Amino acid sequence: MLKNKNIILGVCGSIAAYKSAFLVRLLVKAGANVKVILTPDGANFITPLTLATLSKNPVYTQYFEEETGVWSNHVELGLWADLIIIAPISANTLAKLATGICDNLLTAVYLSAKCPVYVAPAMDLDMWKHETTQNNIERIIGFGNTVIAPANGELASGLWGEGRMAEPEEIVSFLDNAIKESMPLYGKKIMVTAGPTYEAIDPVRFIGNHSSGKMGFAIADELAKLGAEVTLIAGPTAQKAGQRLRRVDVVSAREMFDACTSVFPESDITVMCAAVADYRPKQIATQKIKKQDSGLVLELEKTTDILASLGAVKKTHQILVGFALETNDEENYAKGKLEKKNLDLVILNSLNDTGAGFKSDTNKITIFNKALERTVFDMKSKTDVAKDICTAILKIAK
Ligand code: C5P
Repeated sequence: MLKNKNIILGVCGSIAAYKSAFLVRLLVKAGANVKVILTPDGANFITPLTLATLSKNPVYTQYFEEETGVWSNHVELGLWADLIIIAPISANTLAKLATGICDNLLTAVYLSAKCPVYVAPAMDLDMWKHETTQNNIERIIGFGNTVIAPANGELASGLWGEGRMAEPEEIVSFLDNAIKESMPLYGKKIMVTAGPTYEAIDPVRFIGNHSSGKMGFAIADELAKLGAEVTLIAGPTAQKAGQRLRRVDVVSAREMFDACTSVFPESDITVMCAAVADYRPKQIATQKIKKQDSGLVLELEKTTDILASLGAVKKTHQILVGFALETNDEENYAKGKLEKKNLDLVILNSLNDTGAGFKSDTNKITIFNKALERTVFDMKSKTDVAKDICTAILKIAK
């Protein structure tokens, strides 16, 4: 779960900071990219050199390095992170998180970040039990942060009680489980098609369409974020696929058919978003067709409807989602497709809605489920539309 995750580890002033070295080691071993931020007091307990060597990245201690004058951009660091873990977090930093005090790089990065934040407190038992600390814990949980509770045991003061930071192994497995839980499609194999197809006329010309692939790529990205193993079968498009996806590039409807039929049997969920050509030239000229005085007639033949052929062999555990891009009598056509192609969901977008359909960064959809229940959505960015489609899929996925 931690592989390729960008993790910021914040280390505060506490004797438990010695455990941070082990924590970095375990995170790196799990495949994470780790950047460490030490608070000024944290640097009294463990050296930047130790943590930089283990994390294989520079360690950040302040807004700018005095010697070099190099600026550590807190906003950039905050946005880089997929998750932040502050371990150990002291009573002092906890209070800063609870009140928004932002007097060092770690607290500034915390305020800038949009990712999940986990904290593993470490302090003496009376500090931990103090009403202020407990109030601060409640407050930061209220802000959506997660606390990895301290354990009972011998403390650095010689006292015995609650306040020992969770062990690095426990923290790693806590993070691992938390990520797993935030990924409801973990373990699912999903196929998504996107983009247009090009049907060759001769070596230099083709019949294509205006599909940009943006919608399909956004759906594939969102499904991957939910933990699915996504294979994206893409027609010719300039879109860039996210790191998490397996991308298969195709050009023609025939190539897309071949790729889809080989991936489909293993797919739990399939979302067919590609604008596949319905017709292709019957003959592809081997040489460039020369201009003539008279007109030119091309004979076209039907391509195979990939979605319909997958619907015909679909097993009961498989979910199949199709698109309908219509210009008239939209809802009836969409419902017809749902039944005819044996779909579980059909996503209708109408070219009558400005800002919907091809090329644009926005879309407006209506979703029909098997019971022909209709959900109408507002015009949104294609990323947000993809999120709505994922929510609809999650509702029917077991
Ligand atoms: O019937 P129509 O082409 O409008 O249906 C659109 C849906 O069917 C889309 O989900 C599209 O990806 C899929 N399709 C396909 N193979 C074709 C034509 C369309 O998979 N040859």
